[in-house]
Amino acid sequence: MADYKSLVWDGLLELSAYVPGKPVKELQRELGIEKVIKLASNENPYGASPKATAALKEYEKEITRYPIGDSFYLRNEIAKFHNVDIDNIVCGAGSDEIIQLLYMAFLSTDTHVVAPSPSFSEYELLARSLKSSCRWVETNKDFSINFDNILNAVNNETRFIMLANPNNPTGTLFGEKAFTDFMDRLSPDVLVVLDEAYIEFAEGEYPDAFMLMKKYNNLMTMRTFSKAYGLASIRCGYLAADKECISLINRVRPPFNVNSAAQIICAEAVKDQEHIKKIVALNKAGKEYIYKEITAMGLEYVKTDTNFMLIKVGDGRKVFDDLLKEGVIVRFLGGSRLKEYIRVSIGLDEENKTFISALKKVLNK
Ligand SMILES: Cc1ncc(COP(=O)(O)O)c(C=O)c1O
Repeated sequence: MADYKSLVWDGLLELSAYVPGKPVKELQRELGIEKVIKLASNENPYGASPKATAALKEYEKEITRYPIGDSFYLRNEIAKFHNVDIDNIVCGAGSDEIIQLLYMAFLSTDTHVVAPSPSFSEYELLARSLKSSCRWVETNKDFSINFDNILNAVNNETRFIMLANPNNPTGTLFGEKAFTDFMDRLSPDVLVVLDEAYIEFAEGEYPDAFMLMKKYNNLMTMRTFSKAYGLASIRCGYLAADKECISLINRVRPPFNVNSAAQIICAEAVKDQEHIKKIVALNKAGKEYIYKEITAMGLEYVKTDTNFMLIKVGDGRKVFDDLLKEGVIVRFLGGSRLKEYIRVSIGLDEENKTFISALKKVLNK
């Protein structure tokens, strides 16, 4: 019998698997209740563009064939949308895979990633899975990014700086001036990834990554179809970067990394920006409703430019557990800075109301 644990590389046993938000069905089973809502994974609850889902019929015809290896038609639509060359784009099975491909191409055991904390845990998990590491740099008290601290943490071994804008889990956004001041002070050999997974929801001013890439060729930006586009299950995201960077990434990209359904559906989705406008407006209304209710309850929150928000509830773990008993799944992230918070995704009107009344109940408000 193979002793698997003795066969893995040093350090693998220190990794733990990513824990996603609890699935609805799992909680239904555990509690024996029907009505469960999930506001834990920052999905778009309103649905994808009907034009995109209609394209599923096209996919049926393609199901027995391998996908197009380089996502040509999808990249073409993305390039048109952003007014860049198709060779500036690579697609992946979600931005998760894009991060992995970037790391596979450019990270090694003697280089590392720098990212503000708290932020998306995958920046570290994926680095560690490639025997590299991530240095977390504390954000300011209000969770805004501290670019001076980031610059101080950078050294000759820093390969990537991962900047989610807006950030997950804080919902905070930074603007162009602060960012370009930072870029001007940074070595051009440090690669800066703007992770714009939630950018469609941003209400504040933010750096125009596609314009700035012309000035800073160490800058790249990553977007996903999982959030505002409402296509989380399809697993598709993309990176826009310098052509040479993209061609190097293609050397480590698995041949058919983006499935045909994703390529066909996302190519339609990106053309339907009217749908995105509707989603953003619905999200804004839901956000205002939750702001109003939690303010009336006397709770503090972190102002958000995304489709989720951090709410300060006291004992975050307990409130998370108590909400589960009410059939409401939110997210508790813990750690020294977030132990008093829960993160809740903005849902449908009904779901937001259910969440608020459950929160009132568990907090005795
Ligand atoms: C900041 C951020 N980046 C990237 C991702 C990954 O998204 P996906 O792999 O679904 O494209 C997420 C998912 O929650 C995220 O919050």
